[in-house]
Amino acid sequence: MAGTEQFRHFLDLSDAGADGIAAMIADALDRKAARKTWAKGSADTDRPLEGRVLALVFEKNSTRTRVSFDIAMRQLGGSVLILDAGSSQLGRGESIADTARVLSRMVDAIMLRTDDHAKIEEMARHATVPVINGLTDRSHPCQIVADLLTVIEHKKPLPGLEVAWFGDGNNVLHSVLEAAGLMKFNVRVATPQGFEPEAEFIDMARAGGAEVTLTNDASSAAQGADVLVTDTWISMGQEDAAEKRAAMEPFQVNLALMAKAKPDAVFLHCLPAHVGEEVTEDIFEGHQSVVFDEAENRIHAQKSVLLWSFGLLG
Ligand code: CP
Ligand code: NVA
Repeated sequence: MAGTEQFRHFLDLSDAGADGIAAMIADALDRKAARKTWAKGSADTDRPLEGRVLALVFEKNSTRTRVSFDIAMRQLGGSVLILDAGSSQLGRGESIADTARVLSRMVDAIMLRTDDHAKIEEMARHATVPVINGLTDRSHPCQIVADLLTVIEHKKPLPGLEVAWFGDGNNVLHSVLEAAGLMKFNVRVATPQGFEPEAEFIDMARAGGAEVTLTNDASSAAQGADVLVTDTWISMGQEDAAEKRAAMEPFQVNLALMAKAKPDAVFLHCLPAHVGEEVTEDIFEGHQSVVFDEAENRIHAQKSVLLWSFGLLG
């Protein structure tokens, strides 16, 4: 590939659409299988992003997103540089628009983790290289590509699966709902009253043909589910309020809840987890938990997202 003329931003799963997501998953499965016994930092034989540099820009903390994008770029033959808001001019008020234009002259792609989703839209408007959403307050699409990959590996094809979400109606749930409409699985959303996901994402899932059930009763959501998912009760940037924690308690994923799901149900959590809060230790460490496969799959998913963004996939 000579330039980045065919680049595509990946701000949300709908940017890639069902075909794009399917292509990402297929490529991730192939590349993962091909390099099973290789050293993690060694490159895939085709080195499709040879010479390319990805800037990882963080306005919030990260372990998995930071490391998996770095390793993903090494495996694709490219490299990364990391900018933390606190140590760059972004943290001193340089505009997103100027940052986008400067980085576009210096690197081949930008991943941004930030708070307000409008900031990543602004970055995408001004960048002339692909911009990838590494989490905003609104959504976390890269996480969900890894989650879909994990579910397919452990269970079965996505269409018709019953996915149950417990706890806060947050950014990760928004991307689960967006994926449901694209990949045709159903979502039971169990949240306390007042912590439901944004209506826009429920509408998006339903418009795509997914069945979405909203409930305040965790056990009805777990009944016969294929996949149980939860996340922290307090996301980055949110107020850690005692009332919110109290409201979340009945939505903890524990043995009693798991007993209502299908016997072969799997447990997902994007991590970091707060064991003893949103999930009990027996579930987190138990045989139905696939959370560390899910974490590893961030690498394989990220590689597909990058290839798609460079116009090399889907
Ligand atoms: N799941 C996830 O995005 O983890 P990090 O916050 O560690 O990147
Ligand atoms: N909902 C969490 C996800 C962390 C990966 C947060 O935004 O903090």
